[in-house]
Amino acid sequence: MSKSNDFNDENSNTSANPTFDSVLQARLSRRGLMRGGVGTVGVSLLGGMGLAACGGGSDDDEVAAASGAKADAKLLGFTAVSKSLADTVVIPTGYTASVIYALGDPLKAGVAAYKNDGTDTDYENRAGDHHDGMEWFGLGSDNKPSATSTTRGLLAVNHEATTDETRSSFFLHADGGTTTLPRPAAEVDKETAIHGISVVEVKATNGKWATVPDSAFNFRLTSLSEDIQIRGEARGNALMVTKYSNDGTKTRGTLNNCGTGKTPWGTFLTGEENWAGYFARNAGDVAARGGDTDKSNISLRRYGNDPRAQRIPGTTTSKSSSDAFDSRHGWESVVSGDDKYARWNISKIGVSTDGSDDYRNELNTFGYIVELDAYDKTKAARKRTTLGRFAHESAAFGKPVVGQPLAVYMGDDSRGEYIYKFVSAKTWVAADANPTDRITTGDAYLDVGKLYVAKFGSDGKGTWIELSITNPLIANYADYHFADQADVLVNARLAADAVGATKMDRPEWCSTNIANGEVYFTLTNNSNRAINSATMPPDSANPRVYTDIKNGSSTQNGNPNGHVLRLKEDAAGNAAVSFTWDVYVFGAESSAAPGTVNLSNLTGDQDLSSPDGLVFSPATGIMWIQTDDGAFTDVTNCMMLAALPGTVGDGAKKTLTYAATAGTLTVDTYVGKAPGEDNLKRFLVGPKGSEITGLCETPDGKAIFVNIQHPGESTAQADIATPAKYQSQWPSNAGYGAGQRPRSATIVITKNDGGVIGS
Ligand code: FEO
Ligand code: CA
Ligand code: CA
Ligand code: CA
Repeated sequence: MSKSNDFNDENSNTSANPTFDSVLQARLSRRGLMRGGVGTVGVSLLGGMGLAACGGGSDDDEVAAASGAKADAKLLGFTAVSKSLADTVVIPTGYTASVIYALGDPLKAGVAAYKNDGTDTDYENRAGDHHDGMEWFGLGSDNKPSATSTTRGLLAVNHEATTDETRSSFFLHADGGTTTLPRPAAEVDKETAIHGISVVEVKATNGKWATVPDSAFNFRLTSLSEDIQIRGEARGNALMVTKYSNDGTKTRGTLNNCGTGKTPWGTFLTGEENWAGYFARNAGDVAARGGDTDKSNISLRRYGNDPRAQRIPGTTTSKSSSDAFDSRHGWESVVSGDDKYARWNISKIGVSTDGSDDYRNELNTFGYIVELDAYDKTKAARKRTTLGRFAHESAAFGKPVVGQPLAVYMGDDSRGEYIYKFVSAKTWVAADANPTDRITTGDAYLDVGKLYVAKFGSDGKGTWIELSITNPLIANYADYHFADQADVLVNARLAADAVGATKMDRPEWCSTNIANGEVYFTLTNNSNRAINSATMPPDSANPRVYTDIKNGSSTQNGNPNGHVLRLKEDAAGNAAVSFTWDVYVFGAESSAAPGTVNLSNLTGDQDLSSPDGLVFSPATGIMWIQTDDGAFTDVTNCMMLAALPGTVGDGAKKTLTYAATAGTLTVDTYVGKAPGEDNLKRFLVGPKGSEITGLCETPDGKAIFVNIQHPGESTAQADIATPAKYQSQWPSNAGYGAGQRPRSATIVITKNDGGVIGS
C-alpha cells in the first residue's frame, strides 16, 4: 500500500555524530564453549579477559532447578518447520496452537461478544489491537501472586497500534472509516481506546486454556487513561507542564506500547515506541515557537515531529518548516474540540510562557518505560523518566545480585539510534522479590539512577557513557543547551549524540541470557546503512551493507535482514562501564553469499530476516527470536525460532571489505560461532501480513503465549467490503470468532505429550 508518511518508519537521527572507523586492531583471541543442553553453558576464558559478569556452576544449577528438567534434557528436539506463505500458524508436529485472546474480546461481564463487522463499540472494556510484548503474572487460588501457578495467571499485553492506510483504523469501522479531516468522534473514540495495554486473566481447565472474560483482575489502560504519573528525574520539571498538569506531575494515557519487561519485584514494564507521529502541529508552529534555534523545535525535530520529516500528501516532495505536521490518525481534528481530542495537537497556541494553557509540551510526556502493577488496577501507572525518553522497545534486567545495583537494558528503535542501560542507585535487596507494595518498590529502584548509552569499538570491546549534565560533552553541546539533568533524560537522543554513541541498525528487543548474564539485542534492519554514507557507513557492530532481491527484481539495500548482537559486561557486572561484544547471528537467506551476507551460515531451516522480539525462557533457557519483516516476505511470512546460543567470543573476527568512493573501506566485526542445525531452528511461521511478537510462559515451560500482530496489514481500505480480498482472514479461518476481518491475537502453544515447549 502507499502511504505518504509511514509512522513506523521513523528516521530522525541526522546528527553528524560519526560511527566507528575501520581501523584494524588486534584483539585477544578467546573461545567460549557451549557444551549443549539446558543449564550447561560453560565458559572458558583465555587471554586475561576476566570473569564473566555472571557465570559459573551455581548459575547452571539454578537454571536446571528452575526448569525442573534434568540438565541433559534434550532441547530443540522438534523438527524445524518450513518457511510458509499460508494464512495460518504453522508449528512443529506434536504441538498444538490455540487462539485465546483477540482484538475486541470482552474483558468485563455484560460486554457483548465481538461481532467483528465494524459495528462493535466499548473498546475500553475489550482487548485492544496489535498485541505486542506480553508478560505472565502467576495467580494462586488465594487470588495472590504466585511464582509456581501453572494453570492460572494474568497476561499483561501491549496493544501497540492499529492497521491503517490513511488515518483510519479501517477494520474497526463498518465502511472502513474516514480518511479525510475532520474525523468523526465515534471513530476516534474507538481508535484511542484500542491503544494501550490490557491485563486479562487466563486459566487452564483440563489442559485447555481460555481467558476469564468477567475476571475482576481484568483491566485496560488506553491512550487517554487519566492520572498516569510522571515519575523520576523529570517529575515536575518545566518540560512537563501542560494544560492537563500545570505542575508537570501527570499525563493522560500510554501510547504505541511495543516491547515489555518484568521487574524483579513482580510488576509490568511497557515501552512507548512510535508515539511522536500521533501528535499534530499546525502550519507555522515552527515559527510560533521561535524558529529552528528554539530548544523545543530542536527537540521535536530530533524526535521525528517536524513537518520537514513528512512529504506533501500525494507527492514525493518534502514539506517545509512552515507546513503543518500531520498526525497518524487525525484524532486532534474532531470538531467538538473536547480536551481529549485537543490534546493531540501540540502546537503552541496558548498565551502562557510556561505551556500551562496548551499542549506544546505534551510530547515530553510520552516516550518512556511505564511501570504498572498487573495485579492491582487501582495503582496508578508510572512513567519512569530516569530511564530516558526515546522509542522504547523492551526493558531487560541484568541478573539481580544482592548488594549490587540493578541494570535495565533498552533499545531505541529508529534507524541509527542507540542502545542504553539504566543503573539503579539503590542496591538489590532480596526481600524486594516479594514486596508488600510492588509499585512503590518500583519507585525506589527506577526513579533514581544513571542512564548510559553504548559505544561499540572496532576491537570487540565497548563502553557505557553516562548521560550526565556534568559531562562536558553534554554541558557544552553546541547543538542543544541542556538546562538540567531532566532535560538530558527527556532529550536522551540529543545527549547521546553529544557523547558520540554508536548508531545502530534499529535496536528492537533485548533479553538477558539467564545462564550467564550476557545480554542480547535484536537489530532489526537498516536501509540507511550505506558504504558512502557520511553519517551511517558500516561499522564494527553494524558491519553489513549489501543488496537483497525481493520478488525477483526489487532491490533492498543497507542491512535488510538485521542481526542479533550480544554483550558481556566486564567484572563490575550490572554497574560495569565496559563490556565485550560480538554478533550472535546475522539474519540472511540461506542462499545468500556466505562470506559477506550469510555470515552465520544459516540453513533453510534457520534463515530469518528482521529479528525483533527476543525472549529468553526462564524455564528452559531457550532464546526465542521473533521476526517483523518486509524483506523475506516474498518467500515466507514472519516467524519465530528457538535458539540455544553460546557465549560472547565463541566465534571469530571477520574483516569485511567495501569499495567506497574514497577508497577501500575495511570493517572488523566479530561473528559468533555459527549456530548449527541443533542450536537454532524455526519453530513457528505466522499467517499472512502478521508479525510475531511477545512471548511469555507458565513457570514449568509447558505452555507459551505468543502474539500474532496485524495479520492482513497490507489489505487495502478500499477492499473493506470484500473479505475475499483481505490479505488475511486469520483467526476466523482458524475457527476463532465471528466475521472475516483479520484480528491481532494471543495464541497458546502446548505440547501434545505434555512436555516443555521447545523440547
Ligand atoms: Fe514496535 Fe520496533 O517494534
Ligand atoms: Ca530476497
Ligand atoms: Ca518490536
Ligand atoms: Ca519491528
